[in-house]
Amino acid sequence: ATDLVGRSFLKELDFTAAEFRGLVELAAELKAARKAGTERPLLQGRTIALIFEKTSTRTRCAFEVAAADQGARTTYLDPSGSQMGHKESVRDTARVLGRMFDGIEYRGDSQDTVEQLAAYSGVPVFNGLTDDWHPTQMLADVLTMTEHCAKPLERISFAYLGDARFNMGNSYLVTGALLGMDVRIVAPRAYWPAEQVVAKARELAQASGARITLTEQVAEGVAQADFVATDVWVSMGEPKEVWDERIKALAPYAVTMDVLRASGNADVKFLHCLPAFHDLGTAVGREIHARHGLESLEVTDEVFESAHSVVFDEAENRLHTIKAVLVATMAAPGARGGAQSG
Ligand code: CP
Ligand code: NVA
Repeated sequence: ATDLVGRSFLKELDFTAAEFRGLVELAAELKAARKAGTERPLLQGRTIALIFEKTSTRTRCAFEVAAADQGARTTYLDPSGSQMGHKESVRDTARVLGRMFDGIEYRGDSQDTVEQLAAYSGVPVFNGLTDDWHPTQMLADVLTMTEHCAKPLERISFAYLGDARFNMGNSYLVTGALLGMDVRIVAPRAYWPAEQVVAKARELAQASGARITLTEQVAEGVAQADFVATDVWVSMGEPKEVWDERIKALAPYAVTMDVLRASGNADVKFLHCLPAFHDLGTAVGREIHARHGLESLEVTDEVFESAHSVVFDEAENRLHTIKAVLVATMAAPGARGGAQSG
């Protein structure tokens, strides 16, 4: 098994393909053990700080439940609940938390903050989402893809439609490149990942054999794809004013039944990290409807609720994959001893 004891989980680029795959495999073992009732708690007595400078449902709950399942305890610091970055430098907070906790999760805007926490705390640090990367989400997505597609990973193709300049677009591109997959980024050129991210992905693809496509054409992008993925058009931390331009630019990239049909793959599956604007069931959804007359944004309700959609398996897999990260980085060396069950 991959030995990641003491390592942080900050971005996909820090890992080899074998290490990343090892985490996905460990997550599958942990999932099976939890379902069979044979999970062994390997983190008894451990403590984990959960710093959330942005809101969360899945990531926070996944860390809390994963820790509890493994016998560890968590302390939640909400967006207003810590001094970090306001009255105290990230460096100082890192050194304090490192004296009290065995691991630290951080969600916020700056990748630099999570890197500093790792550099100064002396304990494993986990990126629960920054503006640049969402690496724990990628573990869940890859696990979900392996569960819903019989092909080996390096033969799986997926298309990401929407704003690809941010955490999800960057992470999909780099993860697909790392693992040797067929990755398509489908968006207006202005919404493609930054040049240095694309360059990094191309470099990884050289070694992994990944195929990378960046295109503005939806039909080209989704052709024969095994998975079609999207994300919200406006991310946390962005001002409301960008809605108009975003809707105008990205409307042709909304995932509709026509888009799924255009893949030519009757068995194509739909992924979304969630939360999703697919109906008017939320306050934001109703506001968008009132202002723009739209009933859905990045994905129609029809696709979201269809048999193509595997979004709740994907959401559940946040738990098993985050648990894999905790176990791999924090369990005592040798404690895992192979199988999780038994
Ligand atoms: N997908 C995801 O990260 O969800 P939360 O924002 O609810 O954590
Ligand atoms: N791009 C989204 C992802 C949410 C999980 C955001 O940053 O808000």
